[in-house]
Amino acid sequence: MKILLVGGGGREHAIADALSRENTTIDLVAAPGNPGIGQLARTAPVNVTDLDALCALAEAEQVKLVVVGPEAPLAEGLVDMLRMRGIPAFGPTAGAATVETSKADTKAMMLKAGIPTALAETFRDAKSAKTAVLTRYGAPVVIKASGLAAGKGVIVCHTKAAAFDAIDRMLDEKVFGDAGAECLVEAFMTGEELSLFAISDGYDVLPMIAAQDHKRLLDGDEGPNTGGMGAYAPVTLSTPALIDDVTERILLPTLHAMRKRGTPFTGLLYAGLMLTEEGAKVVEFNCRFGDPETQAILPLLTSSLLEPLLAVSRGARIGGMTPLQWRSDAAVTTVVAARGYPDAPRADDVIELPSFSDDIRVYHAGTARASNGALVTSGGRVFAVTAIASTFADAQQRSRDAAARIEFEGAQYRCDIGWREAARNATRDAGTT
Ligand code: GLY
Repeated sequence: MKILLVGGGGREHAIADALSRENTTIDLVAAPGNPGIGQLARTAPVNVTDLDALCALAEAEQVKLVVVGPEAPLAEGLVDMLRMRGIPAFGPTAGAATVETSKADTKAMMLKAGIPTALAETFRDAKSAKTAVLTRYGAPVVIKASGLAAGKGVIVCHTKAAAFDAIDRMLDEKVFGDAGAECLVEAFMTGEELSLFAISDGYDVLPMIAAQDHKRLLDGDEGPNTGGMGAYAPVTLSTPALIDDVTERILLPTLHAMRKRGTPFTGLLYAGLMLTEEGAKVVEFNCRFGDPETQAILPLLTSSLLEPLLAVSRGARIGGMTPLQWRSDAAVTTVVAARGYPDAPRADDVIELPSFSDDIRVYHAGTARASNGALVTSGGRVFAVTAIASTFADAQQRSRDAAARIEFEGAQYRCDIGWREAARNATRDAGTT
């Protein structure tokens, strides 16, 4: 079966890896792909936002399925265009992708439907937003750009002055452009964050195991925000009972609300959750697989990924399908980033990539081939290195060790991915001795 995979990052390499391991007869075409994906697929030099060229490629290759990785082509309507041509595509329509691309609309939808989330209000003028901070929210408070802001549009402000500054930068200085033309002033929530992905046909869900992302650049959750410096799965906090609860109180009501407003969601619904004292609440939804959580989650999947993706893309229902099955192991993913990431990542540094055993998956993210054939850096996050082991501690150690073996000038990575899980395990072990 021929499949077109749209994207060229670590997430797409992990999807390509999962599909290839599941079914060796899959003929994978990736646009644009990367040198790692190129070991599993034919790559086509088509940009993910060139929707006409992507549709033409899907038609020329007569693919039976298109899997869309990044949010940008989803937001632009790639799935709508493919469906109009009769090509099955896994991902939401542009209307449904607004669950990620308009935080203002999604917040209004959640509050109206009673879906657990923090209270928030949306503003277009700085004066009203500041009045809301002063009179109703106080500090700490969260200031969010409503649109897509490359992972940088959420600012946690610990003082009112910081909130005023964030509001000015978003609404007046337009640092996020149109994405920040509307901003949310949102009540601050305390707790641990969890990423829960669910394959959705618009009515039902197949939830995956949960993962935890690490947004800050440096150990100890210090330094600037990034797209994500690492992840691990599963998270022991995320019990089957918690996933059932989130399914009943959050995922299914969200699908219901989205159908009701005329934008049924099919594809991968990513719930960013806060585990508060009052239970799980939504921080945000994304309309696609997360990066780097996917690189920790998919290597643990033992049941088919292809079957539910195909079913959803063909408009079939998944309610009767067997739940997804998982290895009982742990996976820890350490991102190796380029010098200067996240502000000004440097390209063209030559990479020394050693070989690894099969329990280490090295997913390419920002790599390219130089004209002399050398593997070089070409993006902020260069690799996502996933180690799979029977214990979390082993997976953490092996992921860190493997990341250390990848060499290029200025390589940076965190040594403490999964530190919350490690602390929980230490507490548990202290209680059993
Ligand atoms: N890991 C965060 C994201 O994919 O948006």
